[in-house]
Amino acid sequence: MSERIPLPMPFGWFRVSESKDLEAGEIRTVHYLGEDFLLYRTEEGEACVTDPYCPHLGAHLGYGGTIEGGNIRCPFHHWSFDSTGQCVDIPYAKRIPAKAQLKSYPTIERNGIIFMWHHPHGVEPKWDLPEVEDWATEGWLEPIYHTAVVRSHPQEMAENVVDSPHFKFVHGTPDIPDKTFTFDEHIMRAYQGLTFTTPDGELKGSVNIETHGGSFGVTRFEGIGETLMIITGTPIDEERHESVIRFCFKLFEGSEEATRGIGEAFINEVIRQHSQDAPIWEHKKFHENPVLCDGDGPIHSIRKYYKQFYPEPA
Ligand code: FES
Ligand SMILES: [Fe+2]
Repeated sequence: MSERIPLPMPFGWFRVSESKDLEAGEIRTVHYLGEDFLLYRTEEGEACVTDPYCPHLGAHLGYGGTIEGGNIRCPFHHWSFDSTGQCVDIPYAKRIPAKAQLKSYPTIERNGIIFMWHHPHGVEPKWDLPEVEDWATEGWLEPIYHTAVVRSHPQEMAENVVDSPHFKFVHGTPDIPDKTFTFDEHIMRAYQGLTFTTPDGELKGSVNIETHGGSFGVTRFEGIGETLMIITGTPIDEERHESVIRFCFKLFEGSEEATRGIGEAFINEVIRQHSQDAPIWEHKKFHENPVLCDGDGPIHSIRKYYKQFYPEPA
């Protein structure tokens, strides 16, 4: 835990890669949650996340390991492990030791994203992640990706969503947004109605936010055009947090060019807001008992919601 933000690492599904960035037969080492993990895709197409170190004599499978069909083979003495981590072949042994198991992590792919389930005590997944509607269908632009790393903690990012007044004072929105929040087990939803002034009069729109666990969220804007932000957050370590946003735009009046123009302005606005938040996040201290006023957002509710993602002490 960091001294500035004394919060533990949450458990849950964490994005480790985009699906498109991991080809069949590819092996990569990724560093998240303060650890190295091995990420690979079998020749059959299954994405797997494991410990990088071979249970035999500790070789790092990211350096010279090879994928053979559905298995990964260690470069050192050629032990081979299936996608559950079970050792299935030792070319020079008569019997495979019962403990010959490469530690593996539950891995799923949703919305073109590879997620690993991480729980410090090895507890099995407590929820699934949904497939988001629309984003990959016809009539939508290819997603545009944006990655940002800040020195902060995922709970602080979550609190930012419910912190209504900061939108006016940090981001310069004309009013303090009036969002309705609901908390339902691992899902948080927020809704806000919007009114756009257009040459043809007023147009009603909305923002819908849905987060599943502490590290996967979908924000849908409807009104002038339709836009989706599919957002993932993964702690790199106790100090750094990586967010990846996939911006998806429904074709506006069927025109790719017009949509790109609107899309660019939209993305620039999100990046502008992020750059306004970042210096505050990177230097603020987490107050366990903050002094709040009646105009603040539901800070206590989000903290209570977020608590469910912290493991019980072992
Ligand atoms: S260290 Fe991996 S097979 Fe020996
Ligand atoms: Fe913000």
